[in-house]
Amino acid sequence: MIRESLLEDISRINYLGNKFINNFSNTYNLINYLNDDKYLILVYLVDNEINAFLILLKNIDCYELEMIVVNDGYRQKGIASNLLDYVFNNYLKKDDVIILEVAVNNIPALNLYQKYNFSIINTRKKYYHGIDAYVMKKVI
Ligand SMILES: CC(C)(COP(=O)(O)OP(=O)(O)OC[C@H]1O[C@@H](n2cnc3c(N)ncnc32)[C@H](O)[C@@H]1OP(=O)(O)O)[C@@H](O)C(=O)NCCC(=O)NCCS
Repeated sequence: MIRESLLEDISRINYLGNKFINNFSNTYNLINYLNDDKYLILVYLVDNEINAFLILLKNIDCYELEMIVVNDGYRQKGIASNLLDYVFNNYLKKDDVIILEVAVNNIPALNLYQKYNFSIINTRKKYYHGIDAYVMKKVI
């Protein structure tokens, strides 16, 4: 089941985020995001627990996919795809632009975004602790 996140979800989302990047809970202030209309946080419940989440920012001229994380053990089951489909079907409309950044060596994420027809529009050198990042874009 996919739904918008609630205050009570924050510690679980931070737990999952911190498994992916060390300082997730310091970098992403989820409590502020919950009170800010520009941010959407979606959670994916499976086995009665949040095991994936997505953060979307509505910027002035485009949307930014800030983060998508699926817990270990729940990957390659279509969960990230379900989250992206949910965003595209329920929050974005034709001609909206969505961008994201991804480390060039994050093959699962790169494949996911390419499957959803995101194109590489730029490379940011040494963006993630010395690793380059692609900026990717999709027009709905
Ligand atoms: C990237 C990530 C979100 C994918 O989630 P997922 O639920 O496993 O993805 P899905 O099952 O929906 O897979 C969709 C597509 O992604 C690609 N993909 C997913 N896992 C992959 C892997 N291990 N190797 C290669 N491609 C992969 C494939 O193209 C796949 O399509 P296919 O099943 O038709 O081959 C997940 O691996 C993850 O949470 N990684 C850690 C966090 C992260 O890197 N987030 C993205 C950067 S913010």
